[in-house]
Amino acid sequence: MNGDIFGKEIGYDAPTSYASWLKTESIPVIRGYFVDDLRTVPLEPWDRMGGKGVWMELEGTGDSNNAYVCEIPPGGSLKPQRFLFEESIYVISGRGTTTIWNEGGSKQIIEWGEGSLLSPPLNTWRQHFNIQGDKPARFFAVTDLPLMMNLFHNLDFIFNNKYIFTDRYSAEEDYFKREAQVHMAGRALETNFVPDVKGFKRLNYNPARGAGGSTVHFLLSGNTMTSHISDFPVGTYKKAHRHGPGAHVIIVNGKGYSLIWKEGEAPQKIDWHEGSVFVPPNQWFHQHFNTGREPARYLALRWGNVKYPIGDVFRFDSAVYRSVKEGGGQIEYEDEDPEIRNLFEAELAKEGLTSKM
Ligand SMILES: [Fe+2]
Repeated sequence: MNGDIFGKEIGYDAPTSYASWLKTESIPVIRGYFVDDLRTVPLEPWDRMGGKGVWMELEGTGDSNNAYVCEIPPGGSLKPQRFLFEESIYVISGRGTTTIWNEGGSKQIIEWGEGSLLSPPLNTWRQHFNIQGDKPARFFAVTDLPLMMNLFHNLDFIFNNKYIFTDRYSAEEDYFKREAQVHMAGRALETNFVPDVKGFKRLNYNPARGAGGSTVHFLLSGNTMTSHISDFPVGTYKKAHRHGPGAHVIIVNGKGYSLIWKEGEAPQKIDWHEGSVFVPPNQWFHQHFNTGREPARYLALRWGNVKYPIGDVFRFDSAVYRSVKEGGGQIEYEDEDPEIRNLFEAELAKEGLTSKM
């Protein structure tokens, strides 16, 4: 692979190295604020990976991270891959295995199914297999490739780098099976594999965001990126808040909508259900509403790791739970535009439900 595809124009509006590289991929790119359904989004043959896929460059990433959907054919496998960027993988459908190894080292196998969350450690070799012969397996991944490629603008360094990060992974036998390490009184779990995000039970009541919701953070595979699950009950909505870019919010259970808005502008409404994904842009307010008949659960794959923070732009610190009146990033219920609750009650009424707020 040529290390210099980036001999391109120079100027204030020059494309990023990542944007130039993206044009060399054989699959389409989805842009905009959200994707309605990861389960059915159309895919095209993906030469580099050996399956089918689509890239997603959602507006709210600010070019800091991105996502893709990839499908493994029935009974088939993808090509082995190694690359110098992190990826967190959420399994949308199907069952399969992923083999992980460092160059020259022993191999380990992760068995996954719908709802699993895994992250092959940075720069390890990985190969994905579909163990069902009668249907494809599909997964969604969030990566920090845009940041990495724009920093180093060298394809060999990203895709053909022999450095082994033994501090993250050195083939420990229990690496993908061991008990999670508990941090922040159970609010953050350091683990390397979550078999079932949809059914995961160790959530903690999180009154700070309202709605009687609960949450848990996962710190996977020594990553700098991070993730969390959030649940909120029928007939409720969470407080509006804002933070940095790149939080891919994937709906894993339930239905409802979110409002996203730049301060001083009118909100945009994003209707969601299982399989939807959206990314609130950098410092835009966003607020999540459950209009379904079951608790809503989303998985956010994002920046803001509580163990490896990387600075203010990407930080999700305690200010995201502090009122904007006190310099924080959250709008308390009593300070919100009354139209927000009116809309929620109207939307619930369409479903024959009433507000529990
Ligand atoms: Fe958020």
